[in-house]
Amino acid sequence: MYHLPVLLNESISGLNLKEDGVYVDATFGGGGHSKHILQHLKGGRLLGFDQDEDAQNNSFDDPRFQFIPQNFRYAKNFLQLYNALPIDGLLADLGVSSHQFDVAERGFSFRFDAPLDLRMDVKNPLTAAVIINQYDEQQLADVLFNYGELRHARRIASKVVQARAEKSIQTTGDLRTVLTSFFPKNQEHKFLSMVFQALRIEVNQEIEALKILLQQTLEMLRSGGRLVVISYHSLEDRLVKNFMKTGNLNGEVMKDFYGNIQTPFRLITRKALVPGDAEIAENNRARSAKLRIAEKI
Ligand SMILES: C[S@@+](CC[C@H](N)C(=O)[O-])C[C@H]1O[C@@H](n2cnc3c(N)ncnc32)[C@H](O)[C@@H]1O
Repeated sequence: MYHLPVLLNESISGLNLKEDGVYVDATFGGGGHSKHILQHLKGGRLLGFDQDEDAQNNSFDDPRFQFIPQNFRYAKNFLQLYNALPIDGLLADLGVSSHQFDVAERGFSFRFDAPLDLRMDVKNPLTAAVIINQYDEQQLADVLFNYGELRHARRIASKVVQARAEKSIQTTGDLRTVLTSFFPKNQEHKFLSMVFQALRIEVNQEIEALKILLQQTLEMLRSGGRLVVISYHSLEDRLVKNFMKTGNLNGEVMKDFYGNIQTPFRLITRKALVPGDAEIAENNRARSAKLRIAEKI
């Protein structure tokens, strides 16, 4: 199974699909959400982005569908190229697919001993090995602190720099060995998840790409168009929440001359929707998902 779609019904209904609308799945993956979007379309179109070339194997042979093997940070340009602007809705189901996590040699999981890679786009020159072996101590500490929310980021970075001076750190197993002394009792898994999350976000420049995508939705969505985002950690969710509330990435509330709040979106979800116990029991990877929906005014 490539990937089990998360919050499927909630996100599809959040798009408020119209038969003849133009929709974008910014994170095609296994095509789980896309498949359901297509079922609602008659005269409409769907364009699916994924920067991982493996995702293309899940593409549909369907005249209403176009797969675009690109980073969604270029969404606006590609939609222009495909004559698809403005759009009626965009779905972004952020993060990694189960497929990426399960293929050992992609290096996404510390369950396997594999090269320190973690790239979604294998053409990207920045791998986790480059970060671990070439970033200076301060840069490393910043990545671990900002993206992994690791309390001992500085000490961890210092240990990595010491260890790599003796022998370069090339595999997930090498890294694990270097970090052993930091494992909290019975929480090795949680600690390593935070380290790998930090490395993954930096390798794929995930926050940067999300900011660019969100900003572009202001120009891509038609009035009444829906923005639907599923995020998996607080850094992403905070950005999405602020952006939907205010239309800017800082979450800065803009007011007009009379003090009325100016925002390009109407919030459809005031609080994030999360999966119920049944979905989490069936799909553990759904456990941290948060769904937010907004409509362009
Ligand atoms: C959680 S999965 C999406 C799963 C999909 N909704 C499904 O049901 O099968 C996220 C996918 O988005 C892709 N992705 C993440 N960031 C991306 C970006 N900046 N540009 C393009 N694709 C991206 C990943 O390669 C991965 O395949």
